[in-house]
Amino acid sequence: MTLIKNCILKRDTRITPIWLMRQAGRYLPEFRKIRKKNPDFISLCLNKKLSSLITLQPLKRFDLDAAIIFSDILMIPYALNQTINFKKNFGPKLEDLNLTSIQHLTDNQFKKKLSPIYQSIKDVKKNSLVKNKRDLVGFVGAPWTLLVYMLNKSSPKKKINESLFKDKKYIDKILKILNRYLKLHIKEQVRNGASIIQIFDSWSGLVEKKKLEDLVYRPTRKLVKFTKSLGVPVITFPRNIKNYKEYCNIVKPDVISIDYNVDPYFIKEKIEIPIQGGLNPRILLSDKSTLKRETIKYLEIFKDHPYIFNLGHGVMPQTKTNMVDYLVKLVKDYK
Ligand code: CP3
Repeated sequence: MTLIKNCILKRDTRITPIWLMRQAGRYLPEFRKIRKKNPDFISLCLNKKLSSLITLQPLKRFDLDAAIIFSDILMIPYALNQTINFKKNFGPKLEDLNLTSIQHLTDNQFKKKLSPIYQSIKDVKKNSLVKNKRDLVGFVGAPWTLLVYMLNKSSPKKKINESLFKDKKYIDKILKILNRYLKLHIKEQVRNGASIIQIFDSWSGLVEKKKLEDLVYRPTRKLVKFTKSLGVPVITFPRNIKNYKEYCNIVKPDVISIDYNVDPYFIKEKIEIPIQGGLNPRILLSDKSTLKRETIKYLEIFKDHPYIFNLGHGVMPQTKTNMVDYLVKLVKDYK
């Protein structure tokens, strides 16, 4: 059994596994080299040779316990025919969503558009760095977070334009479409070798209390239930959500991933299921002694609670690789 499965399924607290969100990315010179020659991000995600190579890059350097497939949550709007571009120093920019074009889309057409991702998962799974040894994390964006990108058409700042989400019938229609295709995407990732699914809800913190059930809890709970029915553990990452206990009781993930604003002492007392993450990715930009102190802090707090070491958000592009190396060794050598 892999270390992560041992933590989730057996609740073993003796060894703390580690992987990092955005472990494959711009802080790695070998990634930047490939990225430079591939200016179109979507095409890069759909290049099965390069995306599997990029997925494996961090595992060649660090003793991480999982690979996470190199792709993006926005491959779903892309597959639903919403044009999308990644602009340098700006992030994603989407064109208008066209529901009529989605109505004619078949499951096979959808799967065909994303088939390089599934191929890449299959290839990574066979690689000796992963096979029978490490987990392969597949992922989707939560319906709410995808809805935000599809209607807002770029990353929101601190607040969103409420008027975009007023028409309840229209919102329900899109959520229904997302439910169908996200399930399909999860199923195909699992069929090709993903051994864990993580659901990223980066914008769950923007939803007001009275709308949480409709926009966050119910749509995510459906995907959690579906993933569990495939026999695969599911981790959810509801960034900036206010009430973790309520979220866990209602959504029922196998693991809850916490962001860096969450008080680790508080969460440990409140939550019974395995916990992942927390460390502020900015700590990796400081010095080794600060990194050591903060890492040991999380390890100490969670020493009697099933815990997967990870960050409270993705690795930042400015991060030095020797700091990641040091972090992984700290966690691996901790007794
Ligand atoms: O974690 C991994 O290593 C796997 C790959 C992965 C990427 N994006 C690659 C990526 C994963 C799991 C994601 C998830 C994702 N994508 C989220 C949820 C997590 C979060 O950050 O809140 C979101 C909101 C997105 C959408 C997205 N993709 C944005 C806003 C941006 C631009 C800003 C940025 O971080 O660069 C991306 C681009 C993106 N996705 C890059 C990578 C490696 C950078 C692309 C580049 O090289 O320019």
